[in-house]
Amino acid sequence: MAKVQKCLFVELEPWESERIQARQKDCETLLTYEDPLQEIDLTGEEAAGIILLSPFIHSRVDRAALEQLPDLKVISTRSTGYDHIDIEACRERSVTVCNVPGYGANTVAEHTFALLLALTRRVHKAYTQTVRGKFTIEGLRGIDLRNRTLGVVGTGAIGTHVIRIALGFQMPVLAYDVYPVQQMADALGFRYVDLDTLFREADIISLHAPHNDATHHMVDAEAIAKMKTGAIIINTARGGLISTEDLVEALRSGRLGGAGLDVLEDEQVIMEEGEMLSRRYDERALQTLVQNTILLRMENVIITPHIAFNSEEALDKILQTTVDNIGAFLAGRPQNVVAGPGEETRKA
Ligand code: NAI
Repeated sequence: MAKVQKCLFVELEPWESERIQARQKDCETLLTYEDPLQEIDLTGEEAAGIILLSPFIHSRVDRAALEQLPDLKVISTRSTGYDHIDIEACRERSVTVCNVPGYGANTVAEHTFALLLALTRRVHKAYTQTVRGKFTIEGLRGIDLRNRTLGVVGTGAIGTHVIRIALGFQMPVLAYDVYPVQQMADALGFRYVDLDTLFREADIISLHAPHNDATHHMVDAEAIAKMKTGAIIINTARGGLISTEDLVEALRSGRLGGAGLDVLEDEQVIMEEGEMLSRRYDERALQTLVQNTILLRMENVIITPHIAFNSEEALDKILQTTVDNIGAFLAGRPQNVVAGPGEETRKA
């Protein structure tokens, strides 16, 4: 098997680096960085010969980044979502893009319920009160999940696991997907409906669809207007699925009862807050930053910093699948391809 000249791994913690070094046999030179791609200053000489890039989700792999890597042949993102990668630019440059599908179906689904239960049983509020020495039940009455209807948008790997857990809580489940799998609905015992019906009938709505042009701001003022007053929204998919401006307004007015968010629109702006003065952001991103800051302070909102994937088991599976993706690509049998050469092997 031909050896890779250079492989560039970014956003890799030292322990992950060790595990990758120990497991992979295909990269001749392994460059590893803890920072995201846009923070790394490679000289032309360093960039030459890099045929593989493995980012996580905080690297912006856009046209400019691709131009810095003239020999790039494959991107193996260590995530399921790939909206941080300019897919069209990769296709144009014949760069294969692979992902890690389904590594954390149960992991993200479990976190979905961590957010939901925290909200419905006021766990976040109870915690902050008790650490300050206030040991009373005042202001901490919650609601049961049993018999509350859950609406699941996107019944892929994660959405399906969320449904399984919800059924264990004895919640009736409605679901919407552009590719419904009726057999699965019959086997598990949930009902596919159109999106409007889901918005109208669900007490709790959980988002598990990818972020793309079709799903961008699928939850906006118009969608929220269809929802039950006091409905709860959980988003562990991508921030861009929800219009932050409309969400803030609906939570403020009491139209929505609460939100559990593991992902925020333009979340990289919050993450890079320390560098804000030296960076240029467009006006829209700055507006979203202000709205996100309002969300962070709301009592009926619980936010986690994009950690739904972050379990020991899921991380290990991500690293192993990435090593396997690289091996398969080099052996001429690319797997988990989402775009570029090899795309035709993608399952419908
Ligand atoms: P998946 O590909 O197995 O499932 C996605 C489902 O969404 C598919 O069934 C697809 O048909 C459906 N879908 C596509 N367009 C849709 C639309 N317009 N409306 C309704 N459904 C639509 O993906 P998986 O593994 O379930 O992940 C879902 C999303 O969760 C990912 O795209 C990713 O953005 C996010 N994610 C977030 C993580 C986190 O740490 N917060 C970790 C892993 C994934």
